[in-house]
Amino acid sequence: MNTSKPLLLALLFLSCAIARAEGDYRAQALAVIKHDFHDRGQATIDRLDNDAVQYVCNRYSNDPPSDLSDMLEAEQLDTVKFPADGKLLGDWKKGEKIAQSGAGFTWTDRPGLPVGGNCYNCHKISPKEISFGTMGPSLYRYGKRRGTSLSVQKDTYAQIYNAKGYKLCSPMPRFGHIGALTEEQIKDLVGLLLDPESPVNQ
Ligand code: HEC
Repeated sequence: MNTSKPLLLALLFLSCAIARAEGDYRAQALAVIKHDFHDRGQATIDRLDNDAVQYVCNRYSNDPPSDLSDMLEAEQLDTVKFPADGKLLGDWKKGEKIAQSGAGFTWTDRPGLPVGGNCYNCHKISPKEISFGTMGPSLYRYGKRRGTSLSVQKDTYAQIYNAKGYKLCSPMPRFGHIGALTEEQIKDLVGLLLDPESPVNQ
């Protein structure tokens, strides 16, 4: 027993040293980024500030304990502001343009210009667009598979507004929550995904 004590102490010391070194590296990396990146137009350096969700996802390498993620997901879902007029199905033709557009929020974009959704970057959507990313699941036949009930419309709206309400460490941007897409634009995207006339559901 006695012989293992120094070993345990040595291990404890080592793990503390590693944790400290990791902490130092994180702080050093952040310091380098803050030093080398600068505000440019609307692309301001405060974008590096983490909110609680980003902090938790970074801290747990995108796999936080489930009680923590359940609590934070519920909080994120609570942030969704549904349209006051209760209408969620917009114009799919406009939605397709928004899904295609990668405009907005960079320092070369004029502030105030409508921001795009860049949805094709991560999703297959309309089969007419053959260039798409695969980080997210295919949304082809999204409406055909789920129907267009009010609860499906609400879920789709909320998923686009704040994806972290469904999966805390989702890589999908929180389009409504961060003020990238307007209520009208999100409705048009819901139209693109759910309208039976949309090429997504042909
Ligand atoms: C950076 C990649 C990325 C972008 C950009 C992105 N998504 Fe996603 N999306 C995902 C991932 C990954 C998922 C899978 C679930 C998750 O991780 O949240 C997802 C899930 C979804 C779902 C739920 C799918 C299902 O079967 O339940 C919908 C709807 C959706 N995205 C719509 C959109 C729309 C509309 C846009 C554009 C405004 C968009 N996404 C942009 C990555 C992205």
